[in-house]
Amino acid sequence: MKIFAQKVLQAKFHETIAVFLFEDSKDLPDELNYIKDALDLKYYSAKDGEVLFVPFSDNPNILICGLGKESEISTDKIRNNAASITKVCIEKKLKDVHVVLPNISLIEDDTSCKTIIEGIYLANYQFIKYKNFEKADEPVFIEKLYIYSPTLALQDIIKETSIICKNTLECRDLVNETSDFCTPEGFATIAKNVGKIRGVTCKILLKEEITKLKMGLLLAVNRGSDVEPKCIILKYRGNPKSKKYFALVGKGITFDSGGMNLKPTGSMETMRMDMAGAATVLYTLKTAAELKLKKNLYAIMPLTDNMLSNNAFRPGDIFTAYNGKTVEIGNTDAEGRLILADALSYTEEKLKPEIIVDLATLTGACVVTFGELIAGYLSNDDTLATLLEKASARTGDKIWRLPLYSEYQEDIKSDIADLNNINPDKKAGTIIGGTFLKNFVDHTSWAHIDIAGTAWLSKPKGFMPKNGTGFGVRLLIEAISNWED
Ligand code: BES
Ligand code: MG
Ligand code: ZN
Repeated sequence: MKIFAQKVLQAKFHETIAVFLFEDSKDLPDELNYIKDALDLKYYSAKDGEVLFVPFSDNPNILICGLGKESEISTDKIRNNAASITKVCIEKKLKDVHVVLPNISLIEDDTSCKTIIEGIYLANYQFIKYKNFEKADEPVFIEKLYIYSPTLALQDIIKETSIICKNTLECRDLVNETSDFCTPEGFATIAKNVGKIRGVTCKILLKEEITKLKMGLLLAVNRGSDVEPKCIILKYRGNPKSKKYFALVGKGITFDSGGMNLKPTGSMETMRMDMAGAATVLYTLKTAAELKLKKNLYAIMPLTDNMLSNNAFRPGDIFTAYNGKTVEIGNTDAEGRLILADALSYTEEKLKPEIIVDLATLTGACVVTFGELIAGYLSNDDTLATLLEKASARTGDKIWRLPLYSEYQEDIKSDIADLNNINPDKKAGTIIGGTFLKNFVDHTSWAHIDIAGTAWLSKPKGFMPKNGTGFGVRLLIEAISNWED
C-alpha cells in the first residue's frame, strides 16, 4: 500500500472519500458541501463502528465511519474504525481511498493520523499465498491511500507508520507460514536477508557451535528432530556513540508437537505459530533498522522444532543449561522455556545488554487468563515495566503484569536436579513459566512477555486478522524509541 499526503482533497469519480463523524457532531467536512443537502444524516447516528457507504455515479463514493461520542474516544476505537474503511474497500474492490482526517479535541492530530493509517494498513491483509482463486473472486486490496489534511505536515508520520505497518504484516506472513517452509533453516534465510540492511549484522550459531557452547537445553529439545537447531543473533548498531544495547529474545519453536508429552488433536493444529516470538523480534529489529532508529539492538532467536522420535528427550531426563544449572524434564511440552533459558543466559553473559525483553508463545495458561486480547508479562524491573506499559498504551498492543514473587520458585524445585521445567501441581502456569526463566537472568533488567494468546487469533478482531497478528512489533518499536540509552 502506498500512502500520499494531500493538501487538497482531489478524489476522482470512481474513487472513494472516507470521513469520520461523531455521534454528537455529525457535521460533514466543508469539502463535502456538495452532498450535504442530498444526505439526511438523521438516519445515520455515527455510533462507534457504524459504517455508511454511499456510491455515486458522477462523484467519488462516500464512506462515513462513526466514532461514537467524542468524549468517549480512544486510539483503540480510532484504529478499529479506520480498519472498517479497509474492510468496505476490500469487499467492494476499491483500490484507491481518500481519507479526510478528523479533528478530535481529546487526541493530538499526529496521533490520530498515525492511528488511522495503522488501522487502514493493518486491516489490508490476508494470508493467501497458498490459495487459488477464480479470477472474479481474487481479493483486491487498497493500493493507494491518500491522507488529506490542509494543515498538518504528514510526510514523516506517513513514512514512519508505513515502515512499521509493512513489517507487522511481514511478521504475520512468517507466523502464518507452514512449518515445512519455516524450519530453522528457512527462518535463517530470512534473517540473513535482514542482515544485509545497513547497520545490521547477522551471526548464526549452528549445531556444532551450540554444542561447543553447551546450550544443553536447546540441544535437548532438538533431539527428536530431523533438522538441526540454530541460534540467530542479529545486531543493529543505530547509535555508535553508545555502548548500550537493548536485547530482544524470541522463542523460535518452528513446530510444537509437544514431544513425548504429545499434544492431543485440537491443540496441535496451530503450533506452526510457536515461533511467533522469534518472528516478532526479527521484524522489530528490521523495523528499527529501516527507521534508522538511533538505538543499539540485538535480536536473539533460538530455533528448533519440538518433535518426537526414538531419540527425543523424555520426561525424567536431566540436562545441563548453558549457565550450568541442571534441569529435570517434568514435561517435554514445556519446551519454550528450555530454549529461552539458554538464549537468555547466553545473551546476558556474551552480549551484555542493558535490557533484555523476551517474547514467547509460552503457556496455554496465558490464553486461559487473558484470552486473545492481552499478553501477560513479568519483569524484575519497575522502570522497564513502566517503559513497556507506556508503549502498550500508545500502540494498543495490550500487556498486563503478573508477579514474580520468589515463593513461586518453590514450585519448580526438583528432587534430582536444580530445577524442574514445570510445576507438577499445574498451577499458576504463566507465572511459573516466567519464574523458570528468571533463573537464567542473573543481574540484567528483564521482562518476559507471554504472547500465546495475542500472537494468533482464532477469529478476526478489528484491524487484526485471524491467525498471525504481528502483535508486539509496534509495542517494542515504541518502547525502544522511548528508551533512554
Ligand atoms: N507452545 C505452547 C503454548 C501455547 C499454547 C501457545 C496455546 C499458544 C497457544 C507451549 O510450548 C506449551 O505447550 N506449554 C504447555 C506448558 C505446560 C506443559 C506446563 C502448556 O501451556 O500446556
Ligand atoms: Mg509445548
Ligand atoms: Zn511451545
